[in-house]
Amino acid sequence: MPQTTAPITLADLEQRNAFIARHLGPDAAAQRDMLAAMQLDSIDALIAQTVPAGIRLAAPLPINGPTPEEEALADLKRIASRNVLKKSLIGMGYYGTYTPTVILRNVMENPGWYTAYTPYQAEISQGRLEALLNWQQMIIDLTGLELANASLLDEATAAAEAMTMARRVSKSKSNVFFVDAACFPQTIDVVKTRAAWFGYELVIAPATQAADQDAFGVLLQYPDVTGTVADHGPLIAAARARGACVAVATDLMALVLLKSPGEMGADIAFGSAQRFGVPMGFGGPHAAFFATREANSRAMAGRIIGVSKDARGKTALRMALQTREQHIRREKANSNICTSQVLLANMAGFYAVWHGPEGLRAIARRIHRLAKLFAAGLSASGFTLRTDNFFDSFDIETGEETGTILQAALDAGYNLRHTGAATLGVSFDETHAREDLIALFAAFGVAADIDALDQAVAGTPLPEALLRTDAILTHPVFNSHHTEHQMVRYLKRLQNKDLALDHSMISLGSCTMKLNATSEMIPVTWPEFGAMHPFAPHDQAAGYLEMIEGLVDYLRAVTGFPAICMQPNSGAQGEYAGLVAIRRYQAARGEAHRNICLIPKSAHGTNPATAQMCGLEVVVVACDDNGNVDVIDLKAKLAQHGEHLAALMITYPSTHGVFEEAIREICELVHAAGGQVYMDGANLNAQVGLTSPATIGADVSHMNLHKTFCIPHGGGGPGMGPIGLAAHLAPFMADHMVSPTGGEARSNAGQGAVSAVPFGSASILPISWMYIRMMGGTGLKQATEVAILNANYVANQLSGDYPVLYVGSQGRVAHECILDIRPIKAATGITEVDIAKRLMDYGFHAPTMSFPVPGTIMIEPTESEDKGELDRFIAAMRAIRSEIRSIEAGEWPANDNPLKHAPHTQADVIGDEWNRPYSREQAVFPLAFVRENKFWPSVNRIDDVYGDRNLFCACVPVEEYEA
Ligand SMILES: Cc1ncc(COP(=O)(O)O)c(C=O)c1O
Repeated sequence: MPQTTAPITLADLEQRNAFIARHLGPDAAAQRDMLAAMQLDSIDALIAQTVPAGIRLAAPLPINGPTPEEEALADLKRIASRNVLKKSLIGMGYYGTYTPTVILRNVMENPGWYTAYTPYQAEISQGRLEALLNWQQMIIDLTGLELANASLLDEATAAAEAMTMARRVSKSKSNVFFVDAACFPQTIDVVKTRAAWFGYELVIAPATQAADQDAFGVLLQYPDVTGTVADHGPLIAAARARGACVAVATDLMALVLLKSPGEMGADIAFGSAQRFGVPMGFGGPHAAFFATREANSRAMAGRIIGVSKDARGKTALRMALQTREQHIRREKANSNICTSQVLLANMAGFYAVWHGPEGLRAIARRIHRLAKLFAAGLSASGFTLRTDNFFDSFDIETGEETGTILQAALDAGYNLRHTGAATLGVSFDETHAREDLIALFAAFGVAADIDALDQAVAGTPLPEALLRTDAILTHPVFNSHHTEHQMVRYLKRLQNKDLALDHSMISLGSCTMKLNATSEMIPVTWPEFGAMHPFAPHDQAAGYLEMIEGLVDYLRAVTGFPAICMQPNSGAQGEYAGLVAIRRYQAARGEAHRNICLIPKSAHGTNPATAQMCGLEVVVVACDDNGNVDVIDLKAKLAQHGEHLAALMITYPSTHGVFEEAIREICELVHAAGGQVYMDGANLNAQVGLTSPATIGADVSHMNLHKTFCIPHGGGGPGMGPIGLAAHLAPFMADHMVSPTGGEARSNAGQGAVSAVPFGSASILPISWMYIRMMGGTGLKQATEVAILNANYVANQLSGDYPVLYVGSQGRVAHECILDIRPIKAATGITEVDIAKRLMDYGFHAPTMSFPVPGTIMIEPTESEDKGELDRFIAAMRAIRSEIRSIEAGEWPANDNPLKHAPHTQADVIGDEWNRPYSREQAVFPLAFVRENKFWPSVNRIDDVYGDRNLFCACVPVEEYEA
């Protein structure tokens, strides 16, 4: 009998769900095989054994779709085209810039750079470590200070970090932090929020008053918000003499020409590197820089890249000192910053490499010249300027003409800075040219001959006392790569040293290194999104606002929360924004005395670090033998602290990789005691479509868009950490004083900001928007299910070789699993670090090490890895276990074996001499598949202790590499 098959419909052929299959690793057949290996006949059965029934969502996610890639891109293009791009003269920390196309294509749009992880595994990260060292050298040179970190989140939060660092290093007894009233208003807004919960008194006044103020810290802006450039040397000396630590917010482009804060005697210099080739992007992401004196190295927030040596004595780079600061020091950490802005710092560093000191000087001089020409033309026509000494910005008295001029400029395609009823401001940047001067003069009703003006101003530089006289960017790296061939090859050389997702799976538990699909990434570099100033009038940003509102709707659906705050630009920032909302809410209810934050032992280090930034005292709650919160201990702590309980911070599923079944009870207990529940959303990817933060009973939660919603990790940032809030907390979420969102009637009006801009890293939000759009509600749920399937498959396949530390009541893990290496260490001396390094020889990045349990590794395969890649990883882990057995059996000495010598480099195996007890083949091609796709670590195992003892954090002299 002929078989009757259903006819194929047009709807089938349209393949509207094609993207889902591209995002998910295993296809239906592979899923069946994996389930069969676990004696399961369906994914539903697995989920039923994994996610407690009591917290499952009753209805599907209310998100339409899926939508095909091309259609989603076309939708977004239509939305983006609603943005009206004007040339910006708004300034205030955000300037037009040209991203050199060689950097745009080979770094920003290159998965080799954007899919890498934070360089904890230094041996396979030497490329981006070198890029970050370039960045640090550039910051050291331009600020004139001795030590720079590898980026912070934005200028305003960097100011807040400067304030807390000042408190740590200053010996002054004063509780005052002095802020120059001419700082950017968004900076003051964020500093105010931070100071409130630390209990510091802020004095905001004209800079000159800093000399007479007792204060533990002083914050100055140079050039300031009016554009004025002043030599702060005497003021800094006076403030320091009274015991204050002095921080200067500054501008890299201005510093190419101007005297450095270091030369003026400042203790700290910080600011944004945005205008070094990173698009404004409606506010971010951009790298903030932060530099200080060497003596302050241990008080500084953020990561520092340092120079060390490898096992062969070769120069090698690594993260120094603060590598995992929060994990080690928890509530005593300098800061909660974890994800920073590495990709953007790399881009800014490469901008300096590409242009070199001469190129930068030409750009800076051109910007200054344009500003000067404009000033001269206006002055000649009778306008009064508010300052004589400026680099690129100044304010103009425009009197009754203010509105008319503003409108004329707008009509001609320019946004001016609206500084007051009778003043306007302008800031010039590298994208401006003489045609812009002509148009702007016309808007001001001024007739000017540019060439004549140029002849008049060309010989009148800024006063000598304001100019820098020292050489900058003298290292060869800034003087070698100025042709495109040189630059492309330099970038490729660095990229070749790094293992990113474009090579193999990166199974970092808690980090969710899932696919960052090309269709998600493409809109990020559309000019419609890139060239928008964060403080442009909202009617020009209609496309951005529509996209953001769409994403907010999606996130509401996923979390179950009615309110979403898009300001925080990292997960840790989200934690901060959420706890601040809780504290404000409690204060409004007359419960400001609530100052205890309960945090389970298994929590990520940023949780306690954040709690202390909100003036909370951390009390640790124990975990039981199964890795769950110990409810008996929780009850005891609640009873003990009840009246003073502010909040519980809890990660769900837990960092132990299980869906604990008592989660609802835990949340109810906290609420009954008068506290609020903060859910750390790092593991939200295991909830989407199955349960939600609101369903489990949380009050507020952040979402790491750079984990669950596909924003790539960029080698350590950018990120986005928006928070979802229950209705009662919504009025207490961050607002923004420069650019309020949500109209007059918004319930959170006047609440202080937590980030420099209202929508955090707005220009990377299209990534999450595209992901959700292309997956639709059904695809998102499948992603969660397959993430859980992949993790259980890996746990199942490896449990014979490595004990799985924690499983749920039915023997299943959530979306990640912890393998216990401690028994191996006890028997052989082989540690999780040795296994991590040996995995490099097999072509894999290590899983997360020693978090949340020391002596373990945590594997999170994500839904995007196919069965073939999972099987290769499993084969590698098994092969390593068998190597460890050879050590156990005494075939290889404990200190002379492939694990202790890992990773192996070409230098190891090409020499004439080989006196190891295993073969060269075993060293570098331990399994057949490795030979086909070999990744060569560029250095041998790096000596961490040497690096910390001999702290050196600037570019290495070239001879040292040659040696
Ligand atoms: C459980 C958990 N909480 C918080 C964070 C901090 O997030 P972010 O790095 O985005 O600041 C992380 C980061 O890895 C995490 O894993």
